[in-house]
Amino acid sequence: MAHGFLVEGTSIVAVDRASLSDRKEIEKLIAEYHASEGTTPIKERISWAVDQQVRSESPGLLLVARDKKRIVGVALAVYTPSAELGRVMTVNDFFVKPEHRRKGVGQELVRHMVEECKRMKIDEIGLEVLYANKAAATFWRSVGFRRANRFLFRKKLR
Ligand SMILES: CC(C)(COP(=O)(O)OP(=O)(O)OC[C@H]1O[C@@H](n2cnc3c(N)ncnc32)[C@H](O)[C@@H]1OP(=O)(O)O)[C@@H](O)C(=O)NCCC(=O)NCCS
Repeated sequence: MAHGFLVEGTSIVAVDRASLSDRKEIEKLIAEYHASEGTTPIKERISWAVDQQVRSESPGLLLVARDKKRIVGVALAVYTPSAELGRVMTVNDFFVKPEHRRKGVGQELVRHMVEECKRMKIDEIGLEVLYANKAAATFWRSVGFRRANRFLFRKKLR
């Protein structure tokens, strides 16, 4: 069920939780997103991460913004219990199709994500932005997010 609407040009964009039948379209969109960030999309990882959400196998959120025919934006976030931070929602994938940008679709996805997170009693929402992605940094600031005072470390195992 759609939670709300945004009038984008002449079409109406609605944001809601993704369903099983959206899976393939979402996977395509996320692959487009990873390619646009300069990483090679790994099909198996994308389908696994999407599947975890649409089948409710891991706690989190998978929201889609759709116009009449197609999905035009997606937000995939996962839930983590943290002894320090409490209930944390981490946004791992967030993408609006290029031809639908600067019309408030991203903002609408965030608005719904925040609403859902409040309902789920989440303490904070976190995400990473590539240093080179100035547009994303400006976007997240514009929707009320602030830079965290932390370094990001990782050790890749595969
Ligand atoms: C970042 C992204 C999600 C923004 O989506 P969007 O639907 O265009 O965002 P909105 O239209 O809701 O923008 C809201 C505000 O964010 C800021 N903003 C968005 N895109 C911007 C850009 N390219 N440059 C500067 N500011 C920008 C503006 O303040 C904008 O308000 P305005 O249009 O009234 O000036 C979209 O550009 C995208 O998918 N980029 C590629 C993927 C990506 O970077 N994802 C985030 C990774 S963490």
